Amino acid sequence: MPRSSFSRAMNYFKDSTCHKFWSENAEKVCDDEEDISGKIVIITGSNSGVGKETALQLAKRGAVVIMGVRDLQRGNLAVEDIKRRFPSSTIDLMRVDLGDLSSIKSFVREFESKYSHLDILVNNAGVMVVTKRSLTKDGFEENMSVNHLGTFLLTKLLLDSLRKGAPNRVVTLASTNLSIASIDLEDLMMEKRFKTGDNGREQYNSSKLAISVCTRKLVTSLGPNHGIKFFLMCPGFVKTALFRDNGCCGKCFTNFSLCVGGINAHKGAETAVYLCLSKSVASGENSGRAEMYRFMKIWEFGENVLKEWDGTETVEKLYAMTEDLLGLNEKKSLNVNQNQSIISKLVEVVD
Ligand SMILES: NC(=O)c1ccc[n+]([C@@H]2O[C@H](COP(=O)([O-])OP(=O)(O)OC[C@H]3O[C@@H](n4cnc5c(N)ncnc54)[C@H](OP(=O)(O)O)[C@@H]3O)[C@@H](O)[C@H]2O)c1
Repeated sequence: MPRSSFSRAMNYFKDSTCHKFWSENAEKVCDDEEDISGKIVIITGSNSGVGKETALQLAKRGAVVIMGVRDLQRGNLAVEDIKRRFPSSTIDLMRVDLGDLSSIKSFVREFESKYSHLDILVNNAGVMVVTKRSLTKDGFEENMSVNHLGTFLLTKLLLDSLRKGAPNRVVTLASTNLSIASIDLEDLMMEKRFKTGDNGREQYNSSKLAISVCTRKLVTSLGPNHGIKFFLMCPGFVKTALFRDNGCCGKCFTNFSLCVGGINAHKGAETAVYLCLSKSVASGENSGRAEMYRFMKIWEFGENVLKEWDGTETVEKLYAMTEDLLGLNEKKSLNVNQNQSIISKLVEVVD
């Protein structure tokens, strides 16, 4: 990559320290809110943190909010809380585990049986697994599985419903950390690169970069006039449960940093809410890619990082690998027990 690590690190820290003050001073989410009453919205991972706040803000404005959660008990608590604060809100709690391909497929089937179309998809669910490399039941490394593969599969499977609701929006929560991430096609499941302890963000960063570059490739592959606006975004540095798997030192450092520079979930949800609501952001000329936002505007540095990845051989190969791992490329369905051998074969092919 042409951009130097030093320049990336400087921009990363500059953005991380400025956003607290920017965001705390923001008064409104946007001046040009679209009326979303009755619009059908899916928000994944909406039982806590940024996702729950986004659900609350959209439900408050009259949207039909489908809260996609992996744990219905935790989900019910979130629904009760939103209903208590906004009793007239319309919420449908549905189970989806982004780390389980069969759960994602069942979720989409259930959604399609209940709703004629989809207006807004917010890909919010995410994990940061740091202390121990763990595999999902499909055999994928957990960060890569939830943050990239599961999110990509859900988006792909919902494209038909989205097209029926066009014009509409897909908002995917990436991270500032993508600017300091790398992609290793030979070690996508982090067998060699998985790091524990304080360095353990690498697997998370890599998964966020993967979903970002593949989302942009997906947008270009859809061609013109598909009627869907895709956005990538970072919510900022937000005090949520995301960092719960950090080791002891990591937790101390993160908690200290959150106290100094972190924002609450309400502020953290502002960019997602803005991207769901703003008329101007959706009516602007379609750039043909998913632009990267932070603090309710295009995050230029992140956007430039992603532009450097666009169209590269690495992204082309990653996209093909992603589709193969998800069984999307070919008609044959994925044999979930053979993931590792598929990865090895793909690596041989791409080499
Ligand atoms: N906090 C930050 O500073 C920050 C910065 C950059 C980006 N982000 C991104 O923002 C998004 C929201 O995170 P957050 O900060 O609000 O953290 P959070 O409170 O931990 O929220 C993450 C949500 O994702 C859900 N989730 C995790 N794994 C899942 C799975 N396999 N299937 C379905 N749902 C799953 C969690 O459900 P459970 O409660 O069941 O675990 C939770 O509801 C994430 O994508 C995160 O990567 C956050």
